[in-house]
Amino acid sequence: MHDLDDFHLSADDWDELHDPRPEESDFDRVIAAALSRRGFLSGLVAIGSGAAAMGLGAILPGAAEAAERFGFAPIPAQTDGTVHVPEGYDWKVLIRWGDPLFSDVAGFDNATGGAAGDADRVFGENTDGMELFTVGDRQLIAVNHEYVNRDVNLPQRMDGAPENLEDVRKLQNLQGVTVMEVAPGDDGWRVVTDSPYTRRITHLTPMWISGPAAGHDLLRTEADPSGTQALGTFNNCGSGRTPWGTYLTCEENFNGYFGASDEGAALPEDYARYGIRAEGRGYDYHKYDPRFDVSKNPGEPRRAGYVVEIDPADPASTPVKRSALGRFKHENAEVVLAQDGRVVVYMGDDERGEFLYKYVSDAAYVPGGETGALLDAGTLYVARFLDNGSGQWLALTPETTGMSQAEICILTRQAASTVGATTMDRPEWVAANPVMAEGYCALTNNKNRGIKPNAGGDATPVGGPNPRAENRYGQIVRWRPAGADHAAEDFTWDLYVMAGNPGVHEGADAGSANIHAGNLFNSPDGMAFDSTGRLWIQTDGSDSNEGDFAGMGNNQMLVGDPVSGRIERFMTGPNGSEVTGLCWSADRRAMFVGIQHPDAPFPDGEGRLPRSSVVVVTRKDGGLVG
Ligand code: FEO
Ligand code: CA
Ligand code: CA
Repeated sequence: MHDLDDFHLSADDWDELHDPRPEESDFDRVIAAALSRRGFLSGLVAIGSGAAAMGLGAILPGAAEAAERFGFAPIPAQTDGTVHVPEGYDWKVLIRWGDPLFSDVAGFDNATGGAAGDADRVFGENTDGMELFTVGDRQLIAVNHEYVNRDVNLPQRMDGAPENLEDVRKLQNLQGVTVMEVAPGDDGWRVVTDSPYTRRITHLTPMWISGPAAGHDLLRTEADPSGTQALGTFNNCGSGRTPWGTYLTCEENFNGYFGASDEGAALPEDYARYGIRAEGRGYDYHKYDPRFDVSKNPGEPRRAGYVVEIDPADPASTPVKRSALGRFKHENAEVVLAQDGRVVVYMGDDERGEFLYKYVSDAAYVPGGETGALLDAGTLYVARFLDNGSGQWLALTPETTGMSQAEICILTRQAASTVGATTMDRPEWVAANPVMAEGYCALTNNKNRGIKPNAGGDATPVGGPNPRAENRYGQIVRWRPAGADHAAEDFTWDLYVMAGNPGVHEGADAGSANIHAGNLFNSPDGMAFDSTGRLWIQTDGSDSNEGDFAGMGNNQMLVGDPVSGRIERFMTGPNGSEVTGLCWSADRRAMFVGIQHPDAPFPDGEGRLPRSSVVVVTRKDGGLVG
C-alpha cells in the first residue's frame, strides 16, 4: 500500500520488518499438512462439534427470510479512486481532514496541509470510530482521528519528517477527537460551523486518570507527580457510547509516539509487551517534545492505552481516562447492560495473539442516576474459548493474577497472560446485537497464528475461534452469554463468518459457506449493529485485488444478517483507503461513514492531497438506509 520508507509502512508491515517471522520450520510443515488433510467442514467439526459446527450449519444460504432484510441491490467489488454505493443511494462528502470547524479559520491549503496554528481548529486526520448523540434538538457527532500520515500532513517537509516543535505540535493537534454538530439542509447534511458544541481534543488536552490505576507510582511523572492528570489521548481508533450519553474513545497503538533520545537506554521491563521502543515509530515526537522521550519520562507511556470518556454535550468538561477498563491497544468499547442493569463493556486488544476483554461494573446503571463511578469500579475479565464451542470469562483480580488491582489496570496484558486466556487473531471491533444477547468480534487476520507466540510468550495454537494458521483473511467470532445475560461468566460461541477466497483456494481458505464470488472481502475490522439487528462490517485489508485477494477489490462495507448468515456488499472505498467508523442520523435516514487514509487523491481529485473524509450516505427516496 505504501512505499518502503519505514514511516509509510502499515502497522503490520512495520512489525514484519522489526519482528520478522521465523523461517519456515518443521512446525510450519506440520500445520500445513494438518490443514491440507482436513477439508474445511471436517476441520470445523474437529474444532468443535458443538456450537461452532452448529453455527456454520445455520448460516448455509437459502434462508427464506434473508432477502427481506436487505433494502438494496449488492454492488460489485471496485478498484478505483472513489466511493460506490448501491443504486438508489447517494453519497457526498460531509467533512475532510483540514476543513475548518470555525469560520475564522482559513480554508484548506493544499501546499502546506494547513497552518500549524489552525490544526486544533480544523477537522483532524484519519477519521475513525464515531458516534452520533442527540442533545436537545441538535445532533452531534464525536469522531476519532487515529493517527497522521506525516508526508501528507507535512507536505513541505522531506518525507514529512517533523523538523521542529511546531511541526510536532501540528501533528499532535491533528489527532484525537472532534465533536461537531451536523444538520440536514436543502443541500443535504452539513457540519454546523461555530456550533457551541464544536470541540477538538488532541494529544495536548488535559484529562483525568480515574479508577484503580490513578495515582499509582507507575503513572507518576515529573510534570504530574500525582499520577492523575494526563495530557492528551492517543491513536484514537474505535469508539463506544454509554447509555448516559457519553462518548468512549479508545487508545490503540499509543506505543508509536514514544522514543528515546538515548537509543541505548535500558527501557523498563514492562515496555516490551506493549511494543514501546527506543527508536519510536516515525512520528519523531521525542526528538522535539521531551514528554515523549522515555529516557527522560519513563512514566509517560503508561498514561496511554486506555478508554477515555468524553461528554459531547459539555464542551468544557474534562475527558477521563477510565483505567478500570484496562490498558492495552484498545480497538473499541461496546457497551451493553446486564439483566440487572450493570454496565458491561466488551473490548478487543488489537495485536497478534492478544486478548478479548469485558468489564462488568459493580453498580447498576439507573437512568437519571449517578454515573460517575460506573466505569471506575468493576471487574475486568478476559475470554477463554474452548474448542467444544463453550467458553468462560476469566476474572482478573489480585487473587487470580497475583498483581494489585492497579497493576492489573496498567499492565493488563501481563495480567491476562497469567490466567490462561485465549490468544486471538487481532481482536478489532466488538458489536453487540441489540435484538438478542450476543456479541461479535472481528478477528482481522494474524500472520503469526500457529507460527510464533505473542509478545508475552503465550502460544498461538491453531484452533477454536482462530482456526487457520497464518490467517490472512480474518473471521468474525460470535458468542452468546449464558442465560442471555451479558454479565454471565459462561458463554457458547461459533464463527459467524470466515473470510476467504473460494476462487483461489479450497478448504479453510475458501472461507465459510456464506462467502461467495459476490461478497469477497478480507480483514473485517469496524463493526456496528443497526437498530434492526443487522451487522455492518467494514474492512481494512489488502486491496491488491490479486493473488489471494483476487476479486476482493478495495476496502469496503458489507451488511450481514445474523440469522441467515447472508452477507452483502453495500459500499466500496477509494484505492488505498480503509472504510472505518459508522453512525446514523437520529432518524436513520442518513448514514455517516469514515474513509481513512486514501492513496487516491480522494475526494478532491488529481493534483490534490488525499484527505480522509466522513461521507454521508442517503437514499434517493429519503427512506431508511440499508
Ligand atoms: Fe485502529 Fe485495530 O484498528
Ligand atoms: Ca480498526
Ligand atoms: Ca485493522
